[in-house]
This record gives sequence, C-alpha cells and structure tokens, in this order.
Amino acid sequence: MAKTESRVRAPKKLGRSSISTAASPKAESKPMNQGLGAAKTAKQDEFYTQYVDIQKEVEAYLEFDEDTFRGKVVYCNCDDPFESNFFKYFAANFNKLGLKKLVTTSYDGSPIAGAQLTFGEYDEGNGKRQKPKAIAVEIEEVKDVNGDGATGIEDVKLFLEQNAHTRTPLAGGGDFRSAECVELLKGADIVVTNPPFSLFREYVAQLIEHKKKLLIIGNLNAIKYKVVFPHFQGNRLWLGPSITGGDREFQVPDSYPLDAAGWRVDKDGTKFIRVKGVRWFTNLDHGRRHQPMNLMTMADNLKFNKKLDGKSAYVRFDNYTAIEVPFTDAIPSDYDGIMGVPISFFDKYSPDQFEIIWQASGNTRASTPALVLQQMGYSLHPDDRGGCAILRGRRTYDRIFIRHRATV
Ligand SMILES: C[S@@+](CC[C@H](N)C(=O)[O-])C[C@H]1O[C@@H](n2cnc3c(N)ncnc32)[C@H](O)[C@@H]1O
Repeated sequence: MAKTESRVRAPKKLGRSSISTAASPKAESKPMNQGLGAAKTAKQDEFYTQYVDIQKEVEAYLEFDEDTFRGKVVYCNCDDPFESNFFKYFAANFNKLGLKKLVTTSYDGSPIAGAQLTFGEYDEGNGKRQKPKAIAVEIEEVKDVNGDGATGIEDVKLFLEQNAHTRTPLAGGGDFRSAECVELLKGADIVVTNPPFSLFREYVAQLIEHKKKLLIIGNLNAIKYKVVFPHFQGNRLWLGPSITGGDREFQVPDSYPLDAAGWRVDKDGTKFIRVKGVRWFTNLDHGRRHQPMNLMTMADNLKFNKKLDGKSAYVRFDNYTAIEVPFTDAIPSDYDGIMGVPISFFDKYSPDQFEIIWQASGNTRASTPALVLQQMGYSLHPDDRGGCAILRGRRTYDRIFIRHRATV
C-alpha cells in the first residue's frame, strides 16, 4: 500500500444514501449510607448509581416511545432491594411506566443490603457465612398502601414488609450466572442495572446470548471488547442518550479508600467518587441516535476548526487506506472514504448517517476478518501491535473506522 505523508484531499462525495419528572422518592432524603459502615469487604465493584442518573436515562427513552417499558418484566440483577436506586426508580414508577413485573436480585454479602429495609431472609441458612444472604424480590403491583392518595416508594416499602411471599432467598448467592438468576433472566424482557465492572464482558455476553433488551452502565472503553464491538458495528447495541462525556458521581461504601481523582463526602458522611468514561449501553431505541451530526467540509474544518491546529488531521494512516480524524466534530461532510475517529464518536453516532467498518485497537488483527482488513488496505507495519492504526510511524489512540452512509 502506498504511504502518504500529506493530507488526503476530499473527493467529491457521492450520494448517501413521560413520564413525570418526579423527584427522588421520599426515602432518599434519609442519609443513604446507613449500614454501609458495616462493610468489611468493599470491592472496587461497589459503586452505587444515583437515582437522578437512572431517571434521566429512562425518561429519554420515554420521550422517544412512551411505551418502552409498558407491559414489560424489568429485571435488575445486581441490585439490593430496597437500597439500589434501580430498584427504587422502577418500584416508585411501576404504574407510570406500566410495568408488568419488577424483579430484583441482590448479591451475597452486599455491604448495603438491609441498610434501609431489613428482611428476615438475609439471615436465612447463613451458618458461618457472612451476612446478608442474597435474595430475589418480585413485585407485580404497586398500590396505595399508606392511603395518601398516591403510589410511591413508601407504599412499596410497606408492601414488602407485609408480604413475605415477594421475597425468595437465593441458594446460588445471587450471582447473575447462577441457575436461579438465569431462570429469572429468561422470564425478563428488559435488564436494567449497573453491573460489576470487573465482570462486564461475561455480563454482556450473557444478555446477548439470551437475546434480552438491556439498559446497563459500563465504561466507554468496553465498546472495544471482542464480545461487545461486533454488536456496536452491527447496530445491535449502542450508547444511551443521557451521558455523553465528562464523569459521573457514584456513591461508594464508607470503607472505600478515597484515593480517586475526584471525591467528596457529603454532610451526612456519605462518600462519593467521580468516575470517568461512564456510559449507558443499550439496545432500546432512542431519539438521539436518529439525529445526524451537523458537519463541515474538510476545507472548512481546516480553515475554521481551531482544534485541528497542529494535529495530523486527514492524513492517511501508514497501514490502512483510511484517514485520521482526531475529533468527532472534525469529521468532514464531504469525504467518502474510510475515516478513523476516536471511540467517543459513539456518543454522537447515528446509524442513519454512518456505517461502522471496524476498529483499530490492541487486538484488532486477531479478531478482524481478513476481508475487512483487505478492504481497508491494511498492511503490516514494523510498529504494528495487533492492527493498531499507525500514523507517521507512530501508533495512534484506538480508532473506530467509519464511512458516510450512502443515501439513495
Ligand atoms: C457497580 S455495583 C452497582 C450496584 C447497583 N446496581 C447500583 O448501580 O447502584 C455492582 C453490584 O453487583 C454486585 N455483584 C458483584 N458480583 C456479582 C455477581 N457475580 N452477580 C451479581 N451481582 C454481583 C456487587 O455486590 C454490587 O452491588
């Protein structure tokens, strides 16, 4: 393949083809960390999602289709009933969303189980094991139990206290891979949670294997995983609309060492850390992914886009017949060939506007069909480490290869 050090000229482009915004439930005004002090074994996986982040994301789907959750069985399978905000959000909005059923399963030894609502089942058959035991909670209706004229999380709390049949101790420890949880998964329509990040690959693979609708929190970099990327490429998975950059605050157990870059302790002593790269992963349709980006031509970008100053913009990679586009907003509107863009492109990606060709990252070559590499003019390079894009002799950051979709 001929290498070029100069910018590639843009060829002439061919045709191309509610819910109420109710605030958090009343129970949340209490300090959230009650009981967290008992945590002995807080792991890196213990990050708790804030109610408002769940609310914003779910409401974005409802704006697009108010029936997204209607008649559905929602399963939160890494969540403490009652403490998880996923449980709280779906329980408090059960009727507004029109849910058929809410199923929530916790994990053995959770440091926050029982902090706000204690169930006898937490102690069942524990022997010498660390408490509390994992349980499943299933809710098929939410009624105005306290008679205040509305339904909300306080009604759910009373209902759970009065109805032991809603709870089942889990012999398999609440592991999402356990037989009991897989049975519950089979009966679910949409799985919604923030799963343990350390098990994200396995977690996603299981949902895909069972052909489930999903709305889960993960890290942007997880798009590159071999079990994930082909589904982004094939438009079977995409990012959710409400988080597109910056960082997000999560509550952590009291015992969490505060050595993260951004953290705070609120007036109640509850600890929070800020986590970068957080995104929602989903296969539920939403409006943002049908909004094409407004883009400038290559010439206008070079003239007006100050971010490109000093950057190797629009230079052809040494080992791919694709050009470097260092920022998503610098994608030229008039370039018809293959372009390598940063992974954050997915925040603005519309399948109506672009086609995903492949990715150039650590182990691309091993997992890329030879034909795709050939079509991209991929050639071996001395600095090649598994198919990474190389620009002027140096590896670039991970790149996603895209092309404008042809309009008819
Ligand atoms: C990142 S935290 C999120 C908790 C909750 N979903 C939220 O967003 O607030 C992940 C949770 O998964 C639990 N967990 C860890 N390993 C698990 C497993 N194998 N199966 C199910 N849950 C697990 C952890 O105890 C933790 O509560």
